[in-house]
Amino acid sequence: MPCGNAIFMEESTEKNEKNNFDKPKTLTFPSGFLWGTATSSHQVEGNCKNNWTAWEKENAQRLANEAKGKWQDWQQEKFPEMFDPQNYISGRTCDHYNKFEEDFDLTKEMGNNAHRFSLEWSRIEPEEGKFDEKEIEHYRQVILALRKRGIEPFITLWHWTDPVWFQEFGGWTNKKSVACFERFTKKIVESLKKDVKFWILVNEPNVGLGFGHFLGSQPPGKKGPINFLKAYFNLLKSYKKVYLAIHEIDKKAQVGFAHSFAPYESDIFWPIGKLIVFIGEYFSKYFVRKNEGCFDFIGCNYYLRHVVSLKKKTFSKENTSDLGWEIYPKGIYDTLIRLKKYNLPVYITENGIADATDEKRGKFIKNHLQFIYQAISEGIDVRGYFHWSLMDNFEFPDTRGFWPRFGLIEIDFETLERKPRRSFYEYAKICQKNAVEIKN
Ligand code: BGC
Repeated sequence: MPCGNAIFMEESTEKNEKNNFDKPKTLTFPSGFLWGTATSSHQVEGNCKNNWTAWEKENAQRLANEAKGKWQDWQQEKFPEMFDPQNYISGRTCDHYNKFEEDFDLTKEMGNNAHRFSLEWSRIEPEEGKFDEKEIEHYRQVILALRKRGIEPFITLWHWTDPVWFQEFGGWTNKKSVACFERFTKKIVESLKKDVKFWILVNEPNVGLGFGHFLGSQPPGKKGPINFLKAYFNLLKSYKKVYLAIHEIDKKAQVGFAHSFAPYESDIFWPIGKLIVFIGEYFSKYFVRKNEGCFDFIGCNYYLRHVVSLKKKTFSKENTSDLGWEIYPKGIYDTLIRLKKYNLPVYITENGIADATDEKRGKFIKNHLQFIYQAISEGIDVRGYFHWSLMDNFEFPDTRGFWPRFGLIEIDFETLERKPRRSFYEYAKICQKNAVEIKN
């Protein structure tokens, strides 16, 4: 029996009645559960001047030329914009920097009581050691705009963008990065602690550094294991220092990270397959293991499972996102169950789908929530869900640009018009009722 069915049966009061079989079941979440969406500064704010800005312009034509070899035929046909260099230049993106009030009205309309976003370090510290108080004030206004609407802010401090001066001395590959990040975060927490309780210090270090410092397919475009390891260990060191520093400044702060906990699986024969899974799990969780004792909650990002196989994996059309990722809701349950040993509150800090036509998003959300519900009913202390993303944006990993559409709100990047998609209303219903209705 698939895991999910256990819940349906529990919730059904008349489970033996034949004609009750098609009735939807209501899965009610714990009271106080946080419902939200997530974004990051560079992806939505617009006009950032950071280490992505020049890189995007320099690499746009190359990325457009390479799209042919990178994506499957159906993707190329569906998204011809991937051949346009403009797709790879973030520019004003959603102009959320100026439109945050309007966007948060929609967030409130959805019935959200939490929102995750990141601060743009390059705005706040445009020159080394010089803080721009106007920009700190801007973010205070963003936070207050959320609070005014009864929405709890979750703030990410590093979501893959660095100031230009930071990159000029080698960024994360230079040991100096540790002190710089600490100085920045201390300044921020001292300035904003009155209105912020939840801090997410770093977003998906493995993924961000993997693309930026190992494969070189996103800024800063560094390649190879040496660059990766240097950056990785500096970030690791930073994390601990900053965690302790924040607690010195504010004893009540809740501090953690957002990590990609995607489970590894393999269909390769034993023991090779087992070994591959072990290695994958070992390295992907290394950051978490090394920081044990230094997080007050777990931020779990989940999109898909990793299946290591010798066969070429293809998924049915219904079972795949526009990026070709397998839709595998049970993976979120498998992931959550493995977090039990930490005995800490868990927030799903990202979960979402690239789905331009919005045919799959509503079902995707419900199916994932069904498995989250199951994990909760088995004792995992999941306290919130942040859908990625509030709106279409400049898709980050691997510099994919604008064509993958992750938003509950569609953005017309010409006019900047916001159009809530059907899934916006489906998610709103869930948030407002604190419950998800599932059909058998
Ligand atoms: C990142 C986001 C990104 C999302 C979808 C996550 O790895 O944190 O910035 O947009 O994946 O690809």
